[in-house]
Amino acid sequence: MNARKVNIKCFGCQMNKLDSTLVASALGRAGFAISGNVENADIVLINTCSVRRHAEQRVFSHLGHLKHIKQKRPELIVGVIGCMAQRLGVELFEHKAVDIVCGSTQIPKIPELINKALGKQCQSLAVTEQIRKPDNKNDKALDDFESAYSTAQQNLSSQAFVRIMRGCNKFCSYCVVPYVRGPEVSRNPKTIVEQAKRLSAQGVKQITLLGQAVNCYKYATCGKMYCLADVLYEISKISGIEWVKFITSYPTDIFYDQILQAMAGLTKVCNYLHMPAQCGSDKMLKAMNRKYSVNKYLELIERAKERVPGIEIAGDFIVGYPEESEEIFAGSVSLVKKVRYKNIFVFKYSPRPGTKAEKYAQDDISQEVKRRRNMELLAVQEEISGHLAGEFLGKTVRVLVEGPSKKAHLEAENKDNHYQLVGRTAEDWIVVFGGTKELAGEFVDVKITKTSPLTLFGELT
Ligand code: 5AD
Ligand code: SF4
Repeated sequence: MNARKVNIKCFGCQMNKLDSTLVASALGRAGFAISGNVENADIVLINTCSVRRHAEQRVFSHLGHLKHIKQKRPELIVGVIGCMAQRLGVELFEHKAVDIVCGSTQIPKIPELINKALGKQCQSLAVTEQIRKPDNKNDKALDDFESAYSTAQQNLSSQAFVRIMRGCNKFCSYCVVPYVRGPEVSRNPKTIVEQAKRLSAQGVKQITLLGQAVNCYKYATCGKMYCLADVLYEISKISGIEWVKFITSYPTDIFYDQILQAMAGLTKVCNYLHMPAQCGSDKMLKAMNRKYSVNKYLELIERAKERVPGIEIAGDFIVGYPEESEEIFAGSVSLVKKVRYKNIFVFKYSPRPGTKAEKYAQDDISQEVKRRRNMELLAVQEEISGHLAGEFLGKTVRVLVEGPSKKAHLEAENKDNHYQLVGRTAEDWIVVFGGTKELAGEFVDVKITKTSPLTLFGELT
């Protein structure tokens, strides 16, 4: 019998993308075939995000589309997995299309849930009842699931993501993550390093370490407390691994000097720091339950720039958090100008059920004002990014090639095996240049001939 085909659609962040890869990898081992096509799939899984309402709305509209397909093909199995599955649980079965609901902390059960749904034509649910309660047994299951991951199911075989910690204990007032991904759990450094070695043996050249507050990683073993810097040192020793990145960092002093020292001292550790500020007002940071002041944040950034020459900083900002006055918003604009980020991600505040902000604060900033502030902040950043990018003109940068670029940036067409390739520098600049498809996964040197705020353009040297 032909293998059953599974289509996985992924919404959301890098964590979710990694979960999708892990699920694909596990389903491959369980004898399923992964398909890029919904139309011919026997099973469709939607890996969902709950961070903003808009992300959940997109999932519902995709479910609407699947309901139509299911009217023609009632045997199609539809699963909702990830953050929204954990948040809404059985409620999701009210949607006609849904057969499987599986939270992020239960993903090792997916092959079993699918087999159950296929065999009995019944609904199956796996969510964690008390999501904030530590659960060593489940942590072990997640760890094994994580470690078994191979690059066979991903497009970019030269890059891999390795989660070094799960969950989050920060409880920023607006954020749903602690309620859907559970408590912060750091993985054993030995397991992480073994996994990185296996990935290197499979041809992986760049590893990105993942955690919601990745710089807060800590694991006590053999009488020593291991922090992110220790993991960076260990992974740097692995031959074949050329670049190591880590995202996302929380603004704190804890382990900071060790991490900066590792970045400055280890050539393989990329000089890129994604450290969200969220806003530029002390009053608002307090309301958001972020545990630093604007001055502290600026001091951390200054320290990074001093100790790690050439470091590029990226950040996240939320606009339109309750009671954000024009004056408070001006604080964010001022912070963006002071930090001179490489790029920022700006989000319009979206109240999330269950969070402190949703319970105790009124979403009192209109959509129109949120939209305007969003655009204004991005415009300020665009000018800074434009300047920073401009400094690369005429210079040669090292790039890890991802593959043909999806967007048509250059005038050259994709013909005669000559493609517009896209890749990134160690500092995470996106670089577009012409070359052959075989360069995907390789390191190349590119001379920059043109720049835009988000992209560098150039020629292979
Ligand atoms: N509304 C808007 N943005 C949010 N983020 C997290 N929760 C919310 C929310 N409720 C943003 C933060 C975080 C990024 C991943 O998403 O900026 O850093
Ligand atoms: Fe959410 Fe804050 Fe945790 Fe980031 S650190 S995942 S914003 S609670």
